Amino acid sequence: MAQQIYPLNVGVLGATGTVGQRFLVLLASHPYLRVHAIGASPRSVGLAYPKAVKWKQTTPIPKAYRDLNVSACEPGAFAGCKIIFSGLDADVAGDIELAFRDAGFAVFSNAKNYRRAPLDHLAVVRQQQQELKKPGFIVTNANCSTTGLVVPLAALERAFGPIDTVLVTTLQAISGAGYPGVPSLDIMDNVVPFIGGEEEKMVWETKKILGSLADTSTGFALRDEMRVSATCTRVPVIDGHTECVSVRFARRRAPDIAAVRAALSAYTCDTQTLGCPSAPTQAIEVHDAEDRPQPRLDRESQAGAAVSVGHFVLLVNNVCLGAATRASSTPRSPAHRDSLLSASGGE
Ligand SMILES: NC(=O)c1ccc[n+]([C@@H]2O[C@H](COP(=O)([O-])OP(=O)(O)OC[C@H]3O[C@@H](n4cnc5c(N)ncnc54)[C@H](OP(=O)(O)O)[C@@H]3O)[C@@H](O)[C@H]2O)c1
Repeated sequence: MAQQIYPLNVGVLGATGTVGQRFLVLLASHPYLRVHAIGASPRSVGLAYPKAVKWKQTTPIPKAYRDLNVSACEPGAFAGCKIIFSGLDADVAGDIELAFRDAGFAVFSNAKNYRRAPLDHLAVVRQQQQELKKPGFIVTNANCSTTGLVVPLAALERAFGPIDTVLVTTLQAISGAGYPGVPSLDIMDNVVPFIGGEEEKMVWETKKILGSLADTSTGFALRDEMRVSATCTRVPVIDGHTECVSVRFARRRAPDIAAVRAALSAYTCDTQTLGCPSAPTQAIEVHDAEDRPQPRLDRESQAGAAVSVGHFVLLVNNVCLGAATRASSTPRSPAHRDSLLSASGGE
């Protein structure tokens, strides 16, 4: 394989949206990825980024993007990029992300469109390339509430064996609905006890992520024996999904609280092992205080890359770990970087 040159050029689709803005903030200080091109809807195309975006982050637009023009979301406009991070709306992500994959890009998606396709366990990336006889591929992030849930579930299963029942009730932030999102008259002074399609996603994606790949690597072996029940609500919080969780282990008796706390605190995730720049130093923060975690106090913990747990009420930052941080968690070591790049068709 030819030598890789760093920093590596990447493109961001949906760069003006809630997830896209978070991508740009994270990538502005990335040690070896550099934003080369950005795309959004026809409404924004041709405008300088600051003119096109309704910037909602608490830090100013990074300098690097102030003179960057918004391109159409077409592969030709992203020549020179190796990797594409997508924060596109699900309504448009399907065709656009496919066009980028078919043009040979490595596409990291946050939309729901391809989560059910056998695309997004990393071991099937090469299988996807072989089947399509093309260098491009799509990797999808999971639903943001599911992402927060499966981290502590994986830690508990690693320590105590299979979980057979999961009951979860979410209190989801309004940023999860994108911009402008839920009308203020619906969400102020209120709780909305339904988020379309969310409960089904949490049930299916939990069984998928905690499951495995089929022997052929062409599909998933879902955890069908695991019962998952989800109730999803929208609450007047800007960022950070809170989730109240109960689990039952297949093995009786259940572990005691001290053992559960120790198992959660000791859990190490793959992004830590791989040395990804945006990995948390502690994957799960276990709180001692009875009134934590709280979205306002805990969502920025470890730059939004950790899950906070107390009383098995957990908090996940939906736009960071739930979207942009996870997708941009490329490995730090040269060997891992290069294997990712060779999978993405890098020269
Ligand atoms: N928000 C979260 O917490 C979160 C978490 C996990 C996953 N997700 C998923 O991530 C995706 C993006 O969510 P979001 O909340 O960031 O949405 P958003 O704030 O509504 O942003 C949507 C982006 O898509 C662009 N877009 C819309 N129509 C387009 C078109 N026809 N062609 C090209 N670009 C177009 C918009 O550009 P303009 O500004 O030019 O209209 C904008 O950049 C969704 O699939 C969502 O389900 C969101």
